[in-house]
Amino acid sequence: MNKHSKQFSDDAAIRKTVQGLRQLYIPRPEFNALDARFSSLLEQRRADAADGVAFKARGLMLIGASGSGKTTAVRELIRKYSAEIQTDPGYEICEYIGLQVPSPATMKFVGAATLRALGYPFSGNKQGPAIWDQVKEQLKLRQTIFLGFDEAQDLARFQTDKERQSVVNTLKSLMENSVWPVGLLLSGMPDLKKIVNQDPQLARRVDPIEIGRLHSIRDTGAVLKMVQKYADRAQIAVDSSVQSEAFAMRLMHAADYQFGLLAEIVVLAVSQALFTDGFEAKLCLQHFADVFRDRNGADVWMNVFLADDYGRIDPRRLLDNDGDGEDAVL
Ligand SMILES: Nc1ncnc2c1ncn2[C@@H]1O[C@H](COP(=O)(O)OP(=O)(O)O)[C@@H](O)[C@H]1O
Ligand SMILES: [Mg+2]
Repeated sequence: MNKHSKQFSDDAAIRKTVQGLRQLYIPRPEFNALDARFSSLLEQRRADAADGVAFKARGLMLIGASGSGKTTAVRELIRKYSAEIQTDPGYEICEYIGLQVPSPATMKFVGAATLRALGYPFSGNKQGPAIWDQVKEQLKLRQTIFLGFDEAQDLARFQTDKERQSVVNTLKSLMENSVWPVGLLLSGMPDLKKIVNQDPQLARRVDPIEIGRLHSIRDTGAVLKMVQKYADRAQIAVDSSVQSEAFAMRLMHAADYQFGLLAEIVVLAVSQALFTDGFEAKLCLQHFADVFRDRNGADVWMNVFLADDYGRIDPRRLLDNDGDGEDAVL
């Protein structure tokens, strides 16, 4: 049988295992920081509500390169707290509302998108400030205490200084609103820091948490453990070709040292092993090389898992040619 034919891809048990791999969430140290910050913001908010006072709210920003795992971390955070805060937008009381910043990110557009996320039909002929008044009214009506903006770095893209200031003022006014303050959960790429830090008052209210790059030497052990963890979850064996530090370094390079991308590649490689060899599979270097080839259209000499001098290959360029790097090739 041809090694690359995926004769197990229709097998129900294999499909189910692959689904399970995709849902696996690997905790990171940054997640604990995010969790701790969020927990204290929530506690403070509950205490204020019990005392019948409305203090200014605080927020946080999660910073990281694309593929670092920001969107996933926020989703996991909200899932984790779903017993303590009302997170279902289908209910009238919805304490967390999250949305992706639309493009172009004019204040009018962002306001309209926020209103939509709040389930409020927007007629479209209002000006920015009137829309934001309506947003604030809806936030109070729905009792929303946290508002999440993902891809928040876009709030400053292509904006004039004046527009940027109005973004900053709007964000501040959401947290400082004396009637119904909301805590902001901003997630985005490093440019987000510039927006927040341009205003000292805003910077004081928003705590930064950064998902850093993986480190090619320091993180080898953790990376190998992660490969093992996914293989264990799939109940398949692991070949020595994917247990060495040298392999871990290739894998980190292939993922451009981004944690999320790395997890994604491991999931694809284990899935590839399952689809070609079933539960008898042994995860090996070739599975990773196959994934890299499928994902990036790379020949052997441009394949990070096969080329001798892989350090010269820019995985980001290859990934970006493939779109946003989020499409699974299965
Ligand atoms: N902690 C994690 N455990 C497992 N997979 C993860 C984790 N964080 C991210 N991923 C995976 O990495 C990919 C990119 O993550 P994403 O959250 O979209 O990154 P970002 O929003 O920073 O661009 C997704 O496919 C996601 O499933
Ligand atoms: Mg994202």
